[in-house]
Amino acid sequence: MRLLFLGDVVGRAGRAAVVGQLPGLVSRWALDFVVVNGENAAGGFGITEDITQDLLDAGADVVTTGNHVWDQREALVFIERQPRLLRPLNYPVGTPGRGANLFVARNGARVLVINAMGRVFMEPLDDPFAAIEAALSACPLGDQADAVVIDFHAETTSEKQAIGFFVDGRASLVVGTHTHVPTADHRILPDGTAFMTDVGMCGDYESVIGMDRDEPLNRFLRRIPAGRFQPANGEATLSGVAVEIDDTTGLARAVHPVRIGGRLSQIEPPFWA
Ligand code: FE2
Repeated sequence: MRLLFLGDVVGRAGRAAVVGQLPGLVSRWALDFVVVNGENAAGGFGITEDITQDLLDAGADVVTTGNHVWDQREALVFIERQPRLLRPLNYPVGTPGRGANLFVARNGARVLVINAMGRVFMEPLDDPFAAIEAALSACPLGDQADAVVIDFHAETTSEKQAIGFFVDGRASLVVGTHTHVPTADHRILPDGTAFMTDVGMCGDYESVIGMDRDEPLNRFLRRIPAGRFQPANGEATLSGVAVEIDDTTGLARAVHPVRIGGRLSQIEPPFWA
């Protein structure tokens, strides 16, 4: 099974890259399943129903989120009627939407997607380890699920790596999101889970984590806000990770970064060439 995960889509530039390029990748790479983190897709903050639909129409099967999920207030309502939009699993009981769901891939495989959020230097949510454990035991890999994808939205590399080892052998892919900068540690962990500490963003990298440079720089220099953060609108790099998943075990056979367009070095998975 061929899975593509694309990192945090930031603003108009990120959306243009996904909408412009994902349909071609789905057919060229014969992708079975695509997950896109869309929490910064609406002007850098949150996601709307129309943008969710645009990402799904472009070929995403699931749109994940993180700490910005509710920045566009309409998400609190439409998430209830859009099962393909996930919010972090470890929000308090009673939060709208869902943090995990089972989907059917183009090859017929049942894919459990889990979206959870870290707690180090972030909001004090419920324990993500316990939340992920519960979701995995409700729908285990090799039993009710043929593949398991976990988007762990977190600030620190350590918490993301701990989650990777916590579920090693029980998930097909654990990928970190939120920092908007891709790490070079993509690999298959000892028990078969593909892992990458952070997948990076789909956005303009000539920026400060996707935002136009002026205001972030101003706040570091003067500590006084002079305006709003605006997404940078130069050409985005489509940034993600490609995973070949074994159809029998649901574990990873190969993992490779994806970077297409924009200013970063270009790289595509050789095993789908
Ligand atoms: Fe985030």
